[in-house]
Amino acid sequence: MSDIVDPKITGSTPEAISRRNFIKGVIAGGVAVSSAGYLFRASSLLAADTGERLITINVNGQQRRADVRKQETLAWTLRHKLGLTGTKLGCDRAECGSCTVLIDDVPHYACSILTHTVRNRQILTIEGLAGADRKLDPVQQGVVDEQGFQCAFCMPGFVMSAVGFLKTNPNPTRAELAQGVSGNLCRCQDYDKILTALMRGAENMRQTSHA
Ligand code: FES
Ligand code: FES
Repeated sequence: MSDIVDPKITGSTPEAISRRNFIKGVIAGGVAVSSAGYLFRASSLLAADTGERLITINVNGQQRRADVRKQETLAWTLRHKLGLTGTKLGCDRAECGSCTVLIDDVPHYACSILTHTVRNRQILTIEGLAGADRKLDPVQQGVVDEQGFQCAFCMPGFVMSAVGFLKTNPNPTRAELAQGVSGNLCRCQDYDKILTALMRGAENMRQTSHA
């Protein structure tokens, strides 16, 4: 076996060593740059935090005060500052609809709305659907009537979407209602039963309005 050592393989020449040192330096520098970026971002967030934080928002017909960071989402405020945990967080990135609430009667993903932007709006969560007499909303009653969900994690989001949709179309076909709540996903995938429950809710709503 030859004793000749290929310096290109071993990288043992002074040039290779200095290249290796150079690469090490770049990696270390990159880390330093990343850290600096992180610190910079953190300091900008801290700077953003120095703005007005104690705000009032209208939730379920009540004026609620909360200490809200500038970058805080409505879902976070509802759940962690106001204790309204009926609004669920699934994906936290506008994909699943678990966090759906009504803002001025229109369904929105609360995980993708900054709380500071809804200060002059009316927010309705699942906790605010039942009347003052604690009577369930017709759509909620439809869910009870049909036992439409398995684990029910997605249920508040579906109900809020359906309530919002039925305000624009109180007498939908099954296909129209399916389209209306198509922004909501169910991990248990029990869509047929969910639709049956929501259709029952729509029927309950029509009966209530004619009573
Ligand atoms: S948690 Fe908001 S859309 Fe999934
Ligand atoms: S019933 Fe389980 S996620 Fe929808």
